[in-house]
Amino acid sequence: MAEVLIRDVVKTYPGNVTAVKGINLDIPDGEFTVLVGPSGCGKSTTLRMVAGLEDITEGTISIGERVVNDVAPKDRDIAMVFQNYALYPHMTVYKNMAFGLKLRKFPKTEIDERVNNAAKILGIEKLLDRKPKALSGGQRQRVALGRAIVRDPAVFLFDEPLSNLDAKLRVETRAELKRLHKRLATTTIYVTHDQEEAMTLGDRVVVMSEGLIQQCDTPLNVYQHPVNRFVAAFLGTPPMNFIDGRLEQGQNGLSFVARGIEIALRGHHADLAAGHVGKEVVLGVRPEALFLRPADTANSDDQTIPATVGVVEPLGNTMDVFAVIGGDTMTQDNARRVTARVKAEVLDEDTPVTLYVDDTKLHLFEPGEYGENITLQHAAAVV
Ligand SMILES: Nc1ncnc2c1ncn2[C@@H]1O[C@H](COP(=O)(O)OP(=O)(O)OP(=O)(O)O)[C@@H](O)[C@H]1O
Ligand SMILES: [Mg+2]
Repeated sequence: MAEVLIRDVVKTYPGNVTAVKGINLDIPDGEFTVLVGPSGCGKSTTLRMVAGLEDITEGTISIGERVVNDVAPKDRDIAMVFQNYALYPHMTVYKNMAFGLKLRKFPKTEIDERVNNAAKILGIEKLLDRKPKALSGGQRQRVALGRAIVRDPAVFLFDEPLSNLDAKLRVETRAELKRLHKRLATTTIYVTHDQEEAMTLGDRVVVMSEGLIQQCDTPLNVYQHPVNRFVAAFLGTPPMNFIDGRLEQGQNGLSFVARGIEIALRGHHADLAAGHVGKEVVLGVRPEALFLRPADTANSDDQTIPATVGVVEPLGNTMDVFAVIGGDTMTQDNARRVTARVKAEVLDEDTPVTLYVDDTKLHLFEPGEYGENITLQHAAAVV
């Protein structure tokens, strides 16, 4: 059992590529932390520094109160599982799982107990005599997990361990990993670029971009209270809608105004945005915060976006409506496109539609890819 502390860590590779630009992260004992972010953002580099497979250029990493910067990987009490499970092809499953323990000179009876126990946890008892080539992808991945489990390490490190599996198996193995963590409660750092994996597995999700941590919080908080536009855009499918506009002070209070749209700001949104009157801002609203309503149920304080339906994608119970704000569904202007995930109903393409906004769920961002969330309530911004 151990906590992992990452302090002011920088990694510069030869050739002057700075992959990690000064990150701080506290991973409490027993927590499942997921590092997520686009390709090249520094996830694997961070993990490999914890594992000891890469030198740390600046800063310190400690595992269980011991600074490990100069500790060899084999002495860090960690076990790592990679994307390509790298099993020894000439060894049986049993021997693959026992190998690390044998190397560390564990007694035979202890090895036997640990391998059998791990095999039971993973449901691969019947496969112990097989060689890897006689296993399916999912079974091989379980053996790779087994190899990590038998070590009973202080920390598990996973680098995209499911990405070689097909979609169905990924979901199944994901659930298995979650059960495994519940049972073993070993501190875990898990790297993925798959946001669904991040949201479903993590006690906390760390969103990275360009070598920096953008936000670290519970899955629900990073989704509902993104600190900036990057985090908001990265999480969620279909992605959050962003509409460029400005904040204006009218007779009835503060509004977000863009071509053809006026959305009144209410409650804490108005308080938090007050300092931005007259400035350019970006409205962020997730597809599921938009909905349709029969025209005769309209209210005077409804918040609406007038749009024209482009394409409708039925999803069974719900459907995605890809619309364009105002008219002209052939527009090349992406900033006028908006997606709504609504309850399934009959909706003709190329017809006008009123999208209702659940205004408790809107966000306002400063302009730019990393524009700060102006409407973030302080309590949610736990970093
Ligand atoms: N050995 C290396 N030498 C030089 N640059 C490297 C090396 N390894 C990684 N990099 C660079 O460091 C940056 C971060 O790489 P890293 O592998 O940590 O990204 P990642 O977030 O794991 O991406 P992915 O999702 O594609 O696996 C990238 O720009 C990459 O090209
Ligand atoms: Mg990687």
